[in-house]
Amino acid sequence: MKMNADFRLNDRVAIVSGAGSGIGAGTAKVLAAQGARVVIAELDPESGARVEAEIRAAGYDARFIACDVREEKSISYMIDAAISQYQKIDILVNNAGITQVVDVDTMSPEEWDQLQSVNLRGMFLMSRACLPYLRQSENPAIVNMSSVNASVTLGGLSAYAASKAGIVGFTKSLAAELAPRIRVNAIAPGAILTEAWRDRDKLNQVLAHRLKYIPLERMGAPEDVGQGVAFLVSDHASYITGTVLTIDGGMTSRLYDGQV
Ligand SMILES: NC(=O)c1ccc[n+]([C@@H]2O[C@H](COP(=O)([O-])OP(=O)(O)OC[C@H]3O[C@@H](n4cnc5c(N)ncnc54)[C@H](O)[C@@H]3O)[C@@H](O)[C@H]2O)c1
Repeated sequence: MKMNADFRLNDRVAIVSGAGSGIGAGTAKVLAAQGARVVIAELDPESGARVEAEIRAAGYDARFIACDVREEKSISYMIDAAISQYQKIDILVNNAGITQVVDVDTMSPEEWDQLQSVNLRGMFLMSRACLPYLRQSENPAIVNMSSVNASVTLGGLSAYAASKAGIVGFTKSLAAELAPRIRVNAIAPGAILTEAWRDRDKLNQVLAHRLKYIPLERMGAPEDVGQGVAFLVSDHASYITGTVLTIDGGMTSRLYDGQV
């Protein structure tokens, strides 16, 4: 066991998908601040370039490389560019994901497929494409972004909840498949305050209703999830694989109002 285990990720190269916004951006910032060199693998060029500029302005190393996780060619181009920039890949954070709220009786097969193509197929394609490089790494780790919706959820989220439960199964099987060389874990975030909540009035309405369900009495910040990712990919987590770390302020652990 490494007794000098460290949260520092000095010189490790991390690919974070969907890092142009929200949890992915928060994760990219935390990993970069821990010394990692971060590839922002993002579909949207504007937000990807903005997060790259923010990280570099803070004195850390990051590169935006355009990537659509649904497309093998796009992933392959992103990986080639990442390797020519940084020569290796140590960490993969499969974070890119989309949400939709649609009841099953009105959902089209195309809507179902569209969500699964990002949330599940994208995760498979990204993992498969990075494996040859992760196998050569001294400290390889994968973290997949699931959700509390994998285990507790609401109406209208069937496609999303199915994808997030699928991610847990994918994580556990891949962890078994890649052991003992490569560790694979998932994170289940609860209610995280991301760019989707720019509408302050809507946010305040939701907070008034929902905060009473969160024991820690606040929504999470993207960086709260990023710290969990940094832990799971660090030497401190060297005996942790195939698990799901819930980061939800206690939301899914408490019944009713918490009193007997
Ligand atoms: N925000 C929450 O409360 C919450 C809770 C639980 C889980 N999650 C999960 O965390 C992840 C990030 O969520 P977020 O809230 O930060 O979302 P977000 O919409 O703010 O960010 C998602 C990013 O992924 C990018 N993206 C979308 N499709 C892509 C594709 N095909 N290829 C590459 N990039 C693509 C988007 O452009 C965007 O930058 C998702 O997997 C989501 O399901 C979020």
